[in-house]
Amino acid sequence: MDTYSPLYLYIHTSHEKERGTSNTMALRLGLLFVFSLLLATSFAFADDEVNTTEDLLIRQVVGDDHLLNADHHFSIFKRRFGKSYATKEEHDYRFSVFNANLRRAKRLQKLDPSAVHGVTQFSDLTPAEFRRNFLGLKRKLKIPKDANQAPILPTSDLPEDFDWRDHGAVTPVKNQGSCGSCWSFSTTGALEGANYLATGKLVSLSEQQLVDCDHECDPEEAGACDSGCNGGLMNSAFEYTLKAGGLMREEDYVYTGTDGGTCKFDKTKIAAKVANFSVVSLNEDQIAANLVKNGPLAVAINAVFMQTYVGGVSCPYICSKRLDHGVLLVGYGSAGYSPIRMKEKPYWIIKNSWGENWGENGFYKICRGRNICGVDSMVSTVAAVTTSH
Ligand SMILES: *[C@@H]1O[C@H](CO)[C@@H](O)[C@H](O)[C@H]1NC(C)=O
Ligand SMILES: *[C@@H]1O[C@H](CO)[C@@H](O)[C@H](O)[C@H]1NC(C)=O
Repeated sequence: MDTYSPLYLYIHTSHEKERGTSNTMALRLGLLFVFSLLLATSFAFADDEVNTTEDLLIRQVVGDDHLLNADHHFSIFKRRFGKSYATKEEHDYRFSVFNANLRRAKRLQKLDPSAVHGVTQFSDLTPAEFRRNFLGLKRKLKIPKDANQAPILPTSDLPEDFDWRDHGAVTPVKNQGSCGSCWSFSTTGALEGANYLATGKLVSLSEQQLVDCDHECDPEEAGACDSGCNGGLMNSAFEYTLKAGGLMREEDYVYTGTDGGTCKFDKTKIAAKVANFSVVSLNEDQIAANLVKNGPLAVAINAVFMQTYVGGVSCPYICSKRLDHGVLLVGYGSAGYSPIRMKEKPYWIIKNSWGENWGENGFYKICRGRNICGVDSMVSTVAAVTTSH
């Protein structure tokens, strides 16, 4: 099913070249890779978008043939993101990881020319550390067979462009910190939007309630239970919220980003209730129609292009569809920036939970049209109870 992920591995883990790649695949890969290099070299960044010192750094990083001045880049990185390291050893190790990530950003840039890849607050983390601490969608995902399916909606009158941020249904970008709780942010984001549609009030809801109290299990998968900073699933979290009675406000149950706290859910302080939730089919028009009708949607994605993402529309030639991150789909555009000017790329607008300093003020854009990075694969919609107080 996921024919592209072996190709992807082949590119990015050179010491694993032989594993899982047939000759045909290697040939296809070679062609794709050459193609992407050709495209990447004919591409110049828009100058008007990169005019600050830091942005020049990013440009330099992804544009140079040699990674000159890595020291200088690293000190700007430390200053910009307030990084300090306890020991000289730690500092030197992080510098080597930073260097490896500069090279990785260059490789990802070639595969993803309509986005900008470079230095982010995650540039001193190895990909494994990044996955462990900043993602958190439980693996081995399947949509439960008994899950409600969202009814098929008409799609003929959909707006060309749509963004729930323009309609007051999206709270400010939050930050999950170093905790694999992305799934709880995707869940609150969807219910915040649904609750806004049901009550007319935008109320920020508590992720920590889900982290501490939600241990709901996926009925299809033994051991796949929501487990705080160690991951979870949005569908299970909607189930928990339905059974528990609802979610408290953010300010009444504050996010700490840590595990192991006792559950402090107070039923008298419920701010939003789930009426029902369902799974949206793997059809982009249905996803758009559900988004417009029901509010922001909880979606899963493969986050491999997100560690180095700085901006633009991410539309990699190759991306695994293995889902590892839960995010919130808040809108779409019909014509994104297209580097090669062959065609305009329609895209999804995604709210992430890594703070406003990541991506485009905390948001990510990814192209529509071919289930890139699995973005169409697991989409849930939730409805809130209208009489919530
Ligand atoms: C930098 O870009 C911003 C918009 O991206 C623009 O408002 C500003 O005037 C630019 N500054 C310079 C010095 O070009
Ligand atoms: C879900 O709940 C909403 C609000 O109560 C209701 O309008 C809608 O019909 C329900 N959908 C399903 C599929 O039950």
